[in-house]
Amino acid sequence: MKIALLGFGVVGRGVYELVAPRSDIQVTHVLCRRDLTLPDAIVTHDFQDILLDSSIDTIVEVMGGLHPAWDYVREAILAGKNIITANKAMVAEFYDELLPLVQEKNILFRCTAAVGGGIGWLSELERVRRCETIRKVGGIMNGTCNYILDSMTRHGVTYAEALSQAQHLGYAEANPTTDVDGIDTWHKLIISSNVAFGVSMNKHQIPVHGIRNILAEDVAQFRSHGLCCKLVSTGQMQGGHFCAYVQPTLFYQDEIESTVPTNYNLITLEGNTSGRQSFYGQGAGRYPTAYNVVQDCIDFTHNHGFYSVCQRKVDICNDNRMQYYVRGSSDSWLEERTVETWGKAAITAPVSVEEMHAWCAKYPNVFMAALPERKDIQC
Ligand code: HSE
Repeated sequence: MKIALLGFGVVGRGVYELVAPRSDIQVTHVLCRRDLTLPDAIVTHDFQDILLDSSIDTIVEVMGGLHPAWDYVREAILAGKNIITANKAMVAEFYDELLPLVQEKNILFRCTAAVGGGIGWLSELERVRRCETIRKVGGIMNGTCNYILDSMTRHGVTYAEALSQAQHLGYAEANPTTDVDGIDTWHKLIISSNVAFGVSMNKHQIPVHGIRNILAEDVAQFRSHGLCCKLVSTGQMQGGHFCAYVQPTLFYQDEIESTVPTNYNLITLEGNTSGRQSFYGQGAGRYPTAYNVVQDCIDFTHNHGFYSVCQRKVDICNDNRMQYYVRGSSDSWLEERTVETWGKAAITAPVSVEEMHAWCAKYPNVFMAALPERKDIQC
């Protein structure tokens, strides 16, 4: 199998290194903006060199971003080339167009590394769906945010120090605000929901609250109440409607989520017959992510593409209610719903996810986190 790599950054170089000793997969071309010399592959700045070379059967897109990545992928599909990508922003944005195109051109497509880095989450989700009704997907899906929250909680470092370490370790996106504002997690929730439930949605109806405003004083409050904060995604079928959101969420220190360290992810599904299944592993970094790209390449050597094209359109309805920790601003709406205070923060009575996110959207400096359902918080 002859592949062309689009991009030679953190992941692209990892794929190149992992494939090098294999005899079944060969990287013959690399598209890269930098001047680069590789011993066994042609390096080009021009995508047409790859598109027009009929010896290349598979395009591995690891450049990231929407454009020109999507333009290249689209052209490659139309030219009949198979596609592997780790680009969650692109897949989340263009899924509804991408999948019918894949089917129409009868090519193979996989994007396992797009969600969960080194975890075979999407591959397994596809398998689970064969004989299971999935009720809920989500969890800790961003290695950078988990690294920051874990470092603040266990090592007492500041938010800025932890973010800089995560960037240095190659976990963060080119623009780290994508990580800390929850956008990367949002992309991964959209793709997971597309695959798990066979649905498409107006993704801009999914509310997101990230971790950029968290302070050491918040972490200290959580610790003193026996809690630990994680950035969590939720996609859930409830009756006929679909709820979906991304928000900081508090867990008791004895819950499995609280134990997830550094750049690790913990992604969970709940099925009607299998119950809870959780997938744990490194969610970011060169080799974990490259590993799943190589797994997708190997699947292609067995002619195995994936994902159903059936995309039932669903509306998002976040009317489920929970209590929240809120710090950074106040007004009469919040005061009327405050049942106690923790330091400078308000603890609300149960309010709907939709209401809470709409309120937070008015105050850019607010930090909020959902409280756990159990009532035995240490006071
Ligand atoms: N920036 C992402 C993360 C990389 O931190 O999880 C993997 O998708």
